[in-house]
Amino acid sequence: MHDTGTLTTSQYIERYGHDWTSPDLVRDYVERSDREADQRAEGLEIMAAMVPYEKSAPVRILDIGSGQGSVAAVLLDAYPNAMAVGLDVSDVMMKVAGERMARYGNRFRYHLGDFVDGTLPTDLVGPFDVVVSARAIHHLPTDQKRSLFRAIFNALAPGGGFFNLDMAPPREDLLKVHYRRAGSFMRGEPVGSARTPRPPTPGHYWETVEDQLSYLSGAGFSPVDCFWKRLANALVGGYKQA
Ligand SMILES: C[S@@+](CC[C@H](N)C(=O)[O-])C[C@H]1O[C@@H](n2cnc3c(N)ncnc32)[C@H](O)[C@@H]1O
Repeated sequence: MHDTGTLTTSQYIERYGHDWTSPDLVRDYVERSDREADQRAEGLEIMAAMVPYEKSAPVRILDIGSGQGSVAAVLLDAYPNAMAVGLDVSDVMMKVAGERMARYGNRFRYHLGDFVDGTLPTDLVGPFDVVVSARAIHHLPTDQKRSLFRAIFNALAPGGGFFNLDMAPPREDLLKVHYRRAGSFMRGEPVGSARTPRPPTPGHYWETVEDQLSYLSGAGFSPVDCFWKRLANALVGGYKQA
């Protein structure tokens, strides 16, 4: 695990996208995520439905960049005999997850660890039947993302699957503008100012659905697909053949 304590705030943001050590930022993120939960509810429902196991199976789940645990919770609700490990670098998030996920008892465990270099922590004990993630892997540049997809493939038991619900903007700037405007419209915000694509943000490496699918195939997943999409939010993933 990297010693994040030695980083300045801007170095931390460059590496992890936001200052996840800040209780205020974490609280704001969790509150906003709860408020806007309906925007990705269907994507998470489809994520759970694409899991290649029976409802009663004792599925072993890894949730990467688990944060407050919302994604793991959807899977644990759908698979009552499943257990999940939430991997995250932020002990502030871990505290929030500890409170929100307490209702799952020992079916949910938090693992403090880092995937910034495109590997999974060596002390994370697999294999897993399902690996999920949301809004976290876009903090990795392309090479590290490809490497993480390979690490996930290796951590999966044969027959398992990986599902990532994350930002996947289109390649064309004009379409990015239309999506941005539509996002504002749907949130009930003024749309007039959304005339440019979102500017580059430190620690964010958004990639198209097509690029993400090609990284998944390159890592060994087959078949791969985009299972759900809402503007620039997409659920992409693939299976590890038994
Ligand atoms: C935007 S939150 C997403 C939380 C949750 N998955 C969700 O969908 O609401 C991103 C999470 O990823 C974690 N994260 C970002 N980069 C990470 C890294 N390199 N290693 C471990 N966790 C990381 C952050 O600490 C944060 O909790």
